[in-house]
Amino acid sequence: MKNTHITAILLLTMSLVSAHADPQDEATKAPLANEAYTPGLGDIMGPIQMRHAKLWFAGANKNWALAAYELDEIKEGFGDAARFQPDFKGRPVAKMVEGIIEPKLAVVEKAIVAKSQQQFTRAFNQLTKACNACHQSAGYGFISIQRPTQPPYSNQRFKVE
Ligand code: HEC
Repeated sequence: MKNTHITAILLLTMSLVSAHADPQDEATKAPLANEAYTPGLGDIMGPIQMRHAKLWFAGANKNWALAAYELDEIKEGFGDAARFQPDFKGRPVAKMVEGIIEPKLAVVEKAIVAKSQQQFTRAFNQLTKACNACHQSAGYGFISIQRPTQPPYSNQRFKVE
């Protein structure tokens, strides 16, 4: 009985040691550390949603520097969407970004540069419509975006002092 135990332990130890030394195993483990992380489209959209809200409150408070910053971040987000998920479940995301949202981002940018609140409000509404147009054509019409009614965070000031 005792011997069987020892044999079992020995076998187990040997298999553990050999598993550890197996170069094939090391090869499959090693790339994990450098493996490139590809963000999912939903992971990219989350921050875009937050910045869409911040953009609104920046513009509503005539904080044009912040509005320009948030717009830039949104552009980067869509750039990532086009780069990492150019073809999301058969939807040509890169082309949709270019055709649906980029022209609207350009209109918002113009309004920010002009520091015109009236232009900004109109451009922001168009941008929001474009978010939904893309969701609809991608089969995600149930994700419906609107102009925010409250700042997304209470610990950030949107008004310029
Ligand atoms: C290129 C088309 C496209 C455009 C433009 C687009 N979206 Fe999306 N969005 C999607 C798709 C597709 C999904 C679903 C992604 C998934 O399931 O991984 C999504 C998902 C989302 C989600 C859900 C994320 C979650 O985890 O709940 C939000 C919020 C969102 N988008 C906000 C926005 C906002 C705000 C805009 C405009 C500023 C926008 N989207 C513009 C295609 C788009």
